[in-house]
Amino acid sequence: MSFDFSTLTAELDQRGIAYWQSGEVLLINHDCLAVLPLIPAGSVDVVIADPPYGCDKAQWDGRFFGEWYPPAKDITSHIVIIAGSAGVADAIRCAGADVVDVIAAWNTNSRTRGAIGFSNWLAATVCGYKPRQQQNIMRFAICGDMPDHPAPKPIEYMAQLVPRLTDDGDCVLDPVCGSGTTGVACVKTGRAFIGIEIHEPFYQIAKQRIAAAQHKCLPIRAEDAPLWQMAQGDSDRDAR
Ligand SMILES: C[S@@+](CC[C@H](N)C(=O)[O-])C[C@H]1O[C@@H](n2cnc3c(N)ncnc32)[C@H](O)[C@@H]1O
Repeated sequence: MSFDFSTLTAELDQRGIAYWQSGEVLLINHDCLAVLPLIPAGSVDVVIADPPYGCDKAQWDGRFFGEWYPPAKDITSHIVIIAGSAGVADAIRCAGADVVDVIAAWNTNSRTRGAIGFSNWLAATVCGYKPRQQQNIMRFAICGDMPDHPAPKPIEYMAQLVPRLTDDGDCVLDPVCGSGTTGVACVKTGRAFIGIEIHEPFYQIAKQRIAAAQHKCLPIRAEDAPLWQMAQGDSDRDAR
């Protein structure tokens, strides 16, 4: 499926808002509170947001940022808020009666130090819908590099979480996308992605990471397909 961002990019062009589009990814460098009202209702399947939640890791991280929630809900009622243990209460308060479940993820090989001490789990507060039935606990271990961002989510976590929360070919919106981990997970798992980030240096990092992920996931060229199919022994396999 090829995703059509043209209505949104026309709005961005009109306002002179910087963006980068590559395949089924649209990355926007602006305040999400100004961009969310431009996104047509129903054009996104799930919002996955990892907002600043006040663990004081950077100047922008002084308090829980929940103002994005009402305009995001005008686009889709399927919303997931990711937070460390320190932010769960605020996430639940922010979504109120929309909260359906909380998926816990145990980080088995590292921990963070925040306002309430050490923590080695992450919470995804699921609002407005029930994703495919699965246990509401998962675990992950960090094995790769972390990007240059004060509070990135591990790709090992997001690459497991995104397919739990979405279906193949869905479009995911992350209104506070930082270094673009949600976007990288979407590329790896075949979801379209719209990311918004206010700080230009993080936007640039997100762009580089997503472009690198897309490069690694390039579809097989038609002329290479027979050889590839023979090697895989699976002629119906999706090339992505
Ligand atoms: C917790 S970080 C997200 C980290 C991201 N999940 C990652 O893995 O890199 C929250 C991000 O929200 C961004 N942000 C804060 N206020 C924003 C706003 N009004 N619009 C868009 N982005 C915003 C911050 O610059 C920061 O990068």
